[in-house]
Amino acid sequence: MWHLKLIAFLSFFLLFMHIPCARGADLRSDKLALLAFSASVPHGRKLNWTRTTQICTSWVGITCTRDGKRVREVRLPAVGLFGPVPPDTLGKLDALEVLSLRSNRLTVSLPSDVASIPSLHSLYLQHNNLSGIIPSSLSSSLTFLDLSYNSFIGEIPLEVQNITELTALLLQNNSLSGPIPDLHLPKLKHLNLSNNNLSGPIPPSLQKFPASSFLGNAFLCGIPLEPCPGTSPSPSPVSPSPPNTRSFWNKLSLGIKIAIFVGGGVALLLLIIILLVCIFRRKSVEPGAASASSKGKAVAGGRGEKSKGEYSSGIQEAERNKLFFFEGCSYNFDLEDLLRASAEVLGKGSYGTTYKAVLEDGTIVVVKRLKEVVAGKKDFEQQMELVGKVGQHQNVVPLRAYYYSKDEKLLVYDYVQLGSLSAALHGNKAAGRTPMDWETRVKIALGAARGMAYLHAEGGGKFIHGNIKSSNILISQEINACVTDFGIAQLMAPPHIYPRLIGYRAPEVLETKKPTQKSDVYSFGVLLLEMLTGKAPLRSPGREDFIEHLPRWVQSVVREEWTSEVFDVDLLKHPNIEDEMVQMLQVAMACVAVLPDQRPRMEEVVGRIEEIRNSYSDTRTSPEDKI
Ligand SMILES: *[C@@H]1O[C@H](CO)[C@@H](O)[C@H](O)[C@H]1NC(C)=O
Ligand SMILES: *[C@@H]1O[C@H](CO)[C@@H](O)[C@H](O)[C@H]1NC(C)=O
Ligand SMILES: *[C@@H]1O[C@H](CO)[C@@H](O)[C@H](O)[C@H]1NC(C)=O
Ligand SMILES: *[C@@H]1O[C@H](CO)[C@@H](O)[C@H](O)[C@H]1NC(C)=O
Ligand SMILES: *[C@@H]1O[C@H](CO)[C@@H](O)[C@H](O)[C@H]1NC(C)=O
Ligand SMILES: *[C@@H]1O[C@H](CO)[C@@H](O)[C@H](O)[C@H]1NC(C)=O
Repeated sequence: MWHLKLIAFLSFFLLFMHIPCARGADLRSDKLALLAFSASVPHGRKLNWTRTTQICTSWVGITCTRDGKRVREVRLPAVGLFGPVPPDTLGKLDALEVLSLRSNRLTVSLPSDVASIPSLHSLYLQHNNLSGIIPSSLSSSLTFLDLSYNSFIGEIPLEVQNITELTALLLQNNSLSGPIPDLHLPKLKHLNLSNNNLSGPIPPSLQKFPASSFLGNAFLCGIPLEPCPGTSPSPSPVSPSPPNTRSFWNKLSLGIKIAIFVGGGVALLLLIIILLVCIFRRKSVEPGAASASSKGKAVAGGRGEKSKGEYSSGIQEAERNKLFFFEGCSYNFDLEDLLRASAEVLGKGSYGTTYKAVLEDGTIVVVKRLKEVVAGKKDFEQQMELVGKVGQHQNVVPLRAYYYSKDEKLLVYDYVQLGSLSAALHGNKAAGRTPMDWETRVKIALGAARGMAYLHAEGGGKFIHGNIKSSNILISQEINACVTDFGIAQLMAPPHIYPRLIGYRAPEVLETKKPTQKSDVYSFGVLLLEMLTGKAPLRSPGREDFIEHLPRWVQSVVREEWTSEVFDVDLLKHPNIEDEMVQMLQVAMACVAVLPDQRPRMEEVVGRIEEIRNSYSDTRTSPEDKI
């Protein structure tokens, strides 16, 4: 109650403060404008904007001027903004230079007070559903104007001519009509007017742009397109191909490129083929659906060329391109950003390749590209829903987002600095790696066990990791172990490449191919053995300390005489830890019991490792926190 009153008082206070200084704009008025915006535009993902926090340092998507006095950039791509942008909200940010609201679902029109903010130089509104005309009062400071993939109608305003600094004008995939104004813009480098309903001759000032800047406008003519009726044909200049992104992601499969960049003749051709296949399927599967849709006439007509554009425009295509973010995630990028990010291969696993992606704004994420997913879209989404529901735990790397299309399945995770346990244990010693000491190993074992126990308690106690191995235990800067890659095994084809590869797999899983919580415990046991022996259960190039059936090997060594032969030689250098190593070995051996019922539950494993750790800190009085 008291809280409410306080808030009411505060908002009144702010309101009154605001009125007198509405003209002398400052950070406070920027804040109010943004709060008004977030209050009136529904959004899928939470914006952590509150009155009480510092706008410049802790509001997601906001960048201030250097002196911290005004808001300079608002970047909210793909946060699920929905509906109209009300006037008198963003339009009041009169020091704004960059506004990015792309890949949302904004509708109605672009308020002219936003487009005309005098300081605005970059406006990114592509991939929304904005309609109405393009306002004629555009800021004359604009250098980058991207309104593509919306539903704008009417003509390209003549006033664009006066935006002399403009370097990019991207208006493709709207419903613009009328002639193209003769734009003498000396700095214009990127122009795309494709897929509109523009007509008439292409003005001489724009004839230097390639044909792909004008495609999909049935009534446009002249260089670089077909000559206009009634003019003598002249040789059209060779059109330069659109600039290639240098990014690593160029290696992505064709499907995703088509979806994103729809570029080049080959892609277009493929697209037509795909669309024709789709149309054919649609027609044969649900004959009613096509004709029921308003776009149905072209489809029903079956005229390939014409139906192509009409059929694919609209939501399916746009939605297909979207990354699905889980709730509570404050990332601020979309698929385009991700594809543009520079990427570095972190590892190649049985389920695909993992990349470290550094986005343009410096955000680092881990992207896993899955291969051989057997689950269909629906099953995939259901499983992701489950995985996404796994909440926050300091020993678990949460899945932040996923992308599913026929050709490409991507998972996005937080980046964890120090890499995997596998690399830390078996990394190249020649390269100066210091062997991991016992205390660190215990700490990591405990963290991983806690993460696993947490996972097993999720989903009503039914959640399964399915792929525990040392490369799926990541280590943070604070030497905190984090479990990753959970819940994916269920989507994959059972391993068929090395059917007899044992590694971390429980004996029953080799037959049933179905992981269970008990098989997770087995895998965890193998992981403990790996940490104790320093031997890897999976082969990898240049690794000699590989033992395929680690549990069996340990048993055979231990049976002969209970020796320290099994332990990692790097550990034996440390004094007085053999007792603890033996205790840990017992935990590990309990986990790798052949009969699933004889294995402990993860919770018990945690308890037993905690005991080892406690004895550890008792005897050695390390003041260190208990993880
Ligand atoms: C809001 O999210 C951003 C980006 O994740 C983060 O840096 C900031 O600390 C958050 N602010 C608050 C108040 O939680
Ligand atoms: C462009 O600017 C000039 C001078 O500022 C003005 O006279 C002219 O009307 C403007 N043109 C358009 C189309 O707004
Ligand atoms: C496209 O423009 C032409 C005239 O330029 C007009 O006849 C036609 O109706 C327009 N089509 C659409 C879909 O707006
Ligand atoms: C313009 O956009 C269309 C449709 O997205 C695309 O096919 C074409 O390659 C683009 N042209 C340029 C020059 O980027
Ligand atoms: C853009 O329009 C073209 C032609 O109408 C269509 O093939 C393409 O799928 C559209 N792109 C998007 C992303 O909507
Ligand atoms: C876009 O808005 C129009 C109305 O302005 C609506 O009919 C259409 O369904 C919307 N499209 C999407 C993809 O939301």
